[in-house]
Amino acid sequence: MVETSKTSVLISGNWKMNQNHFEALKLIQELSALLRSLNGDSVLSPMTKVSIHPPFTSLRTVQTAVESDHIPVFLGAQTCHHLDKGAYTGEVSAEMLSKLGVQYVIAGHSERRQYFFETDEIVQKKVKAILHHGMHPILCVGETMEERQLGKANEKVQNQLREVFSQLSIEEALKVVVAYEPIWAIGTGETATSSDAEQMCSFIRTELASLSGNQVAEEALIQYGGSVNEQNAAELLAQENINGLLVGGASLDARKFVEICRA
Ligand code: PGA
Repeated sequence: MVETSKTSVLISGNWKMNQNHFEALKLIQELSALLRSLNGDSVLSPMTKVSIHPPFTSLRTVQTAVESDHIPVFLGAQTCHHLDKGAYTGEVSAEMLSKLGVQYVIAGHSERRQYFFETDEIVQKKVKAILHHGMHPILCVGETMEERQLGKANEKVQNQLREVFSQLSIEEALKVVVAYEPIWAIGTGETATSSDAEQMCSFIRTELASLSGNQVAEEALIQYGGSVNEQNAAELLAQENINGLLVGGASLDARKFVEICRA
């Protein structure tokens, strides 16, 4: 088993395809009011980092609010294209995101894999591009219910990790956040039990050790995602190998999200 020091925790809010530009402004203002005390200081524990991932159309609005109000969150994006520029109608590159002040980009979310046919190979290229532009990838891995029932969950996650980490230097691997998101738990209200989540996150840490060495495994931020809410957050975060949460639905409610961030 790999020892983990758990010196920091990353809570990420994935807004998915929600919040138009006006709604996004309102939500970030609500977050600002709840995340800062009356004298403007952050209400978060010093070990807690928060990233929020609005749709592309709201990135600039949120970035401006975060900077002008000194809101203690990092700007995140939900995906990107792996090339810097070119004739790819509708796409947004990692380079464009980095110039907007984005610091965390989700790569390989199961919804992207399922609905937009992103393969492990594409996800790996995205991770490289995100790193190349100085940002942190949040690499999502996880199994379907069928794979879990067939006893293939570990194998699936192992392959998803291998595809990416085998291509990274140690310096690069140290910057990657891994999010374990069992597909059957996303948006379903069905959370993995904290011990199932812990077991997989511990397995992920062991795999990282064999792929990238002990330092990467010990320092890796490993998030759990899938129906996280203000009631289950603390128990999930209390697990030894879980040092972060990737939150979908509950991140659209400022009060719930801040409760999760303070869990
Ligand atoms: P959920 O989504 O919290 O709504 O289940 C999590 C995610 O997809 O990142």
